[in-house]
Amino acid sequence: MGFGVLGVFLGLLLEVSTHGPNAVPRTSWRHQDLDLMEFSEPGIFNYSTLLLSEKRDALYVGAREAIFELSKKNVTVKNNKVEWTVAENPMVMCTLKGKSKEKDCLNYIRVLQVVDDERLYVCGTHAFQPQCDYLNLADFSLDRQPEDGRGKCSFDPSQSFTTVMVDGELYSGTAYNFLGSEPIMSRYSPSQSLLRTEYSTSWLNEPSFVFADVISEGSNRVDGEDDKIYYFFTEVSVEYEFFGKLLIPRVARVCKGDLGGQRTLQKKWTSFLKAKLVCSMPELNFVFNVVHDVFILKGADWKDTVIYGVFTSQWGNVGLSAVCAYNMTAVEDVFSKGKYMQKVTVEQSHTKWVRYNGITPTPRPGACINNLMRQQNISSSLHLPDKTLQFVKDHPLLEDPVLPIGNGPRLITKDVNYTQIVVERVRALDGKIYDVMFTGTDKGILHKSVVYEGEVHIVEEIQLLKNSESIKNLLLSSETRSLYAGSDSGVVQSPTAFCVRYRSCADCVLARDPYCAWDPHTAACVNILDAPSQRPRRLIQSLNGDADKCPSASGLSVKDYHRVKVKPGSSAELPCLARSNLAQVMWKSNGSVLTEASRFHLIAENGLLIYSVAPEDQGLYECWSVEWAPAAGKNFSRLLVGYVLSLIPPPRAPQQAGHVTPPLNRQETSSTQAAEGNGKTDRALLTSAIAPPSFTATAQFTSPPQTDSSLTPPPSSTIRFQPKLPPLSSNTPRSQDSRVPAAEYLQHNNSTALLFLFLLFFLLFLAALAYNCYMQYLPAPCLRLRAALLGSHKSTHQPEYRACEAGLMEATTSDKMNMTEQPTQNGSQTTQNLKALRDTGYETEPECGNGRIPSHTCGGDSPSQEKPFDVDCESQPIEFADADEPYC
Ligand SMILES: *[C@@H]1O[C@H](CO)[C@@H](O)[C@H](O)[C@H]1NC(C)=O
Ligand SMILES: *[C@@H]1O[C@H](CO)[C@@H](O)[C@H](O)[C@H]1NC(C)=O
Ligand SMILES: *[C@@H]1O[C@H](CO)[C@@H](O)[C@H](O)[C@H]1NC(C)=O
Ligand SMILES: *[C@@H]1O[C@H](CO)[C@@H](O)[C@H](O)[C@H]1NC(C)=O
Ligand SMILES: *[C@@H]1O[C@H](CO)[C@@H](O)[C@H](O)[C@H]1NC(C)=O
Ligand SMILES: *[C@@H]1O[C@H](CO)[C@@H](O)[C@H](O)[C@H]1NC(C)=O
Ligand SMILES: *[C@@H]1O[C@H](CO)[C@@H](O)[C@H](O)[C@H]1NC(C)=O
Repeated sequence: MGFGVLGVFLGLLLEVSTHGPNAVPRTSWRHQDLDLMEFSEPGIFNYSTLLLSEKRDALYVGAREAIFELSKKNVTVKNNKVEWTVAENPMVMCTLKGKSKEKDCLNYIRVLQVVDDERLYVCGTHAFQPQCDYLNLADFSLDRQPEDGRGKCSFDPSQSFTTVMVDGELYSGTAYNFLGSEPIMSRYSPSQSLLRTEYSTSWLNEPSFVFADVISEGSNRVDGEDDKIYYFFTEVSVEYEFFGKLLIPRVARVCKGDLGGQRTLQKKWTSFLKAKLVCSMPELNFVFNVVHDVFILKGADWKDTVIYGVFTSQWGNVGLSAVCAYNMTAVEDVFSKGKYMQKVTVEQSHTKWVRYNGITPTPRPGACINNLMRQQNISSSLHLPDKTLQFVKDHPLLEDPVLPIGNGPRLITKDVNYTQIVVERVRALDGKIYDVMFTGTDKGILHKSVVYEGEVHIVEEIQLLKNSESIKNLLLSSETRSLYAGSDSGVVQSPTAFCVRYRSCADCVLARDPYCAWDPHTAACVNILDAPSQRPRRLIQSLNGDADKCPSASGLSVKDYHRVKVKPGSSAELPCLARSNLAQVMWKSNGSVLTEASRFHLIAENGLLIYSVAPEDQGLYECWSVEWAPAAGKNFSRLLVGYVLSLIPPPRAPQQAGHVTPPLNRQETSSTQAAEGNGKTDRALLTSAIAPPSFTATAQFTSPPQTDSSLTPPPSSTIRFQPKLPPLSSNTPRSQDSRVPAAEYLQHNNSTALLFLFLLFFLLFLAALAYNCYMQYLPAPCLRLRAALLGSHKSTHQPEYRACEAGLMEATTSDKMNMTEQPTQNGSQTTQNLKALRDTGYETEPECGNGRIPSHTCGGDSPSQEKPFDVDCESQPIEFADADEPYC
């Protein structure tokens, strides 16, 4: 059986190592940087139902106890609102059944469907008694003549379900009872009677419905079959034997013209068939078996239709999500030609599903009525022979699975749970069609990906939601070029592309965004859909990221570099931020590449830190971005920013140490955009940078000032490295590089630096100790130590310190024993201290016997413990130094 657990986990290990790096979004946009349009109303939550109306230019939003009409162009503009609350009586009934009044027994609007130009059909959970009503769009009022919503809307607001309105008939997949235990796929029609699924586990077994839509076969269908409604859901498998509930993603379909059977399957679907959706990596035996959302990308012909689904694994802790795409033709083939499965009884009571090898009745069970059947006088499902109906009733499951295009996922991402997907087809300037996938996560992030020559590229990740919450609904409008995301706290509208945010040609091309191209005429990255169609040839776009196509930029010259003056011995911070997650920052000083080992340097995420500036550190510093474009097979280097570092002559240093002068003029801060070059011009740039200022070509910097404040040097003298903007999802490769500079510093095997730090902390320590001794905070041993220290602290400081650390190691174990044997009155504090101890490795407060004593004083206690003085600080694991106040 294909779902071997061992295989799954073996596959996982391989997968993580082989596919991991591919799925790094190139650019990360934070919410606060984007200025997205948002909508929410105080006191209203769960904006999870969205409906776009092309006709009315509106976005309808179903929330908890309210329906809104927002402007599609700008969702901050609310045009209408209607409330739909639960009356007293149903509320009481709901609470009596044990549901919570504040959460469950409210009316969550979950169905919004267009009936006609004037009306919407609206359903809500209505305190576990689902109800539906008509919403008149002219005055935005409800009819207030609610209908029974059972089978159309779920009872439970947290239960998954799906609906689609097709020609005034509502198709839904939901639960039919209060407990949510009776699944149903049904059709409600004003003219015909209700049609539904058989209540049987072979039809539906604990399904979680995610999507349903109609595929119109249109008039060009030669065999005269009618339209079909496809449902997508995850259910518990019946066909696999497994030691738990094995989930299986499914596609089911029914025919729009189905009327049920005459005797057998009366008022039930006669065309219900379902098949397994496969989203796996066969080469690794890894299976994504839970489908969360489906988007059907409809082509002009139904054969061009592609079904996109987002999947995760049932074993949620593996943290992988995948997107699989299915060819509509392949889906059709499975339903029209696939083999059926059959339930057989083995060994008395045990049943097993096997392939049915007998003769299938004609007409084919589950097939829609076509011209051939009509010739046989079968013009509707009511005329189908009982044999066919009985067969489809017993054999709704097909054996053949629906395989994804390319037999594997289009996209695999680590440490992400995708919840929603929309796809837009874009014709790029190379004339080819690209399907741009937008996938929303359970953390409010959106990924935008494109497949180029079989390789997936995540163009960007966008923090759509302010808070880390799930994207519950995602819609796309090609007309407004916007995405609409619904969440528990509000609705967000985002453009489908952020071209103008790419400030240079290289950045624009390296982004590999099918929507974006560089316009050399206006020197801007533009959306190709906005660009005047008469001149698309002039635009530069290269979806493999070949930035060599860009015109060679006039580089920065030394006179445009920021002047940075510092006092000898102080620190200098040279900010530089590479926006691309695929780029590496390379620092050059005086033209040669700087490595961290070379000096007292720290190459951090957002700049270079030089700890103790010496005269030989003066000179030119350049920050280069080296970006690897895999599809182009090339590295692209460009100069991001340059600095001229010099020392302030000692007698004339009036300011604080380490003062960094602001840039000479404001325009220089725009150097990031202006400094774009490409591989070919690197050398030219470099030589011009090294040459004396008088020989450099003059370059004009007319671009607007950078808004990114991280590029302007900080005004204070402190070593103030802001933490790098955290990766939106934790799969960016830099996430592990979050050590504090001090810890990084300690890693360098540099005795001078160590001695300096050591002396600094030792002085601090002495000061604290002296103060505490003076204030009589310390118990007697500490005071005795005081006497000893006063004698000759210079000669004893090292053993002293080592004793401290040895003592702390001891403290860990002895305190653990104290904790288990006799919890003292300050037991809880001890627990906290132990936690701190494990975290930071230096807190030893309990050893000093006084909860008020700061941890610095631990040294005072140590001599009394008679610890050996030969603990080697250098050999301590790095965690012990990785503290706020490293002692080592
Ligand atoms: C959207 O509407 C709000 C409120 O009317 C307005 O302040 C904002 O500028 C509009 N945004 C856009 C992009 O039109
Ligand atoms: C509705 O929103 C609230 C507040 O964000 C959330 O706690 C709750 O889980 C949501 N309920 C459902 C059914 O989505
Ligand atoms: C789907 O498959 C059919 C038949 O194999 C093929 O003609 C068609 O191009 C495929 N469509 C896509 C989108 O792959
Ligand atoms: C279909 O019905 C017509 C008229 O009722 C009859 O003449 C014809 O023989 C029937 N054809 C078949 C294949 O039963
Ligand atoms: C994905 O969802 C699962 C199950 O809800 C959860 O355990 C896991 O932490 C989530 N992973 C991420 C990266 O959000
Ligand atoms: C850079 O060159 C200058 C002048 O040649 C020299 O004084 C300085 O030490 C050099 N700086 C570095 C960091 O190599
Ligand atoms: C591209 O740059 C990276 C980082 O500097 C380097 O490791 C890699 O070897 C380079 N590749 C090529 C083909 O130059």
